Amino acid sequence: MILKCSRLGHPVLRERSADAAADDIRQGRYEDLVEDMFETMVAYRGVGLAGPQVHLPLRVFVFDSKERDDGRGACPRRGVVFNGVYEPVGDAKVVEWEGCLSVPFLGGQVPRFDKVRLRGLDREGQPIDWLAEGFVARIFQHEVDHTHGHVYLDRMPDLTTLGYTLVL
Ligand code: NI
Repeated sequence: MILKCSRLGHPVLRERSADAAADDIRQGRYEDLVEDMFETMVAYRGVGLAGPQVHLPLRVFVFDSKERDDGRGACPRRGVVFNGVYEPVGDAKVVEWEGCLSVPFLGGQVPRFDKVRLRGLDREGQPIDWLAEGFVARIFQHEVDHTHGHVYLDRMPDLTTLGYTLVL
């Protein structure tokens, strides 16, 4: 089922979402949700989608970097992460264009850490500990931000790069 995507201005995008309980994950409570989030991400042609973006203040996101991936790092290219947190590995940052399904038709340049360590829980409720680099690391930072009530606009030091994209 394709879910309705929340847009900037909805308060759910600005609150810190609740952690998912490992027991609930293990018991399959979120299986339907995760399937719906994958379906929604594909329908909207996104590379990531977080709980608040489907009006659910839960710390979960799905991602699929495959089409634009540069192949760096050691982590899956498609999956689901509950209660994700990241920490930078090194200081290097890269500036690239980002967009967001909750901020439609716009894009802007956002500096992100080039390498991050991502921890959280997988679809079975088991701990994950991934080293991500490049594009997939950017997705993780963008999606974890969503689960903390942030959007990429908050990370833009220079709003003059914000503009409408040509792809509608
Ligand atoms: Ni987004």
